[in-house]
Amino acid sequence: MRVGLYPGSFDPITNGHIDIIERSLSIVDKLIVAIGVSATKTPLFSFEDRAAMIDSEIGALAKQKGVELSVVDFNGLLVDEAKKHGAGLIIRGLRNAEDFEYEAQMTAMNRAMAPEVETVFLTASPDVSFISSTLVRQILAMGGDISPFVPKVVLENI
Ligand code: PNS
Repeated sequence: MRVGLYPGSFDPITNGHIDIIERSLSIVDKLIVAIGVSATKTPLFSFEDRAAMIDSEIGALAKQKGVELSVVDFNGLLVDEAKKHGAGLIIRGLRNAEDFEYEAQMTAMNRAMAPEVETVFLTASPDVSFISSTLVRQILAMGGDISPFVPKVVLENI
């Protein structure tokens, strides 16, 4: 059984995350979406809200594809979280070269700590490769329309 862990802040979940999650469902039997909860940052959405939105957006598709989906929170090391769930794969999305630089370094450090956990990168689909949660939060704070960037469930929760 191939277990993958897709970590992120998901604050909020965007169409870019959905793209990666949907495609991940084709490469794993079980997908853990792990919401990194920072003790210092004040999030836009609580963990509970973020988890409910992810589940409502992806739950049905995961079931249809026969993939077991669970959404968890974590505030420790990513590799420890992966090992805790028996995940041999960490899945990350790459939008651009800047993401690659950052992710490659993080992956190398994660591999040094836990060589048994492999990181796989999925490059973002072109139509969503410009979306970032940080910019979505900024647009929202300034009264802009975020509907092109996030699933409907996010709009229903703001
Ligand atoms: O997609 P995001 O929002 O940038 O997600 C960041 C996240 C949660 C994946 C990252 O902050 C993380 O891996 N946190 C866990 C802490 C950790 O393991 N740090 C060492 C990495 S080398």
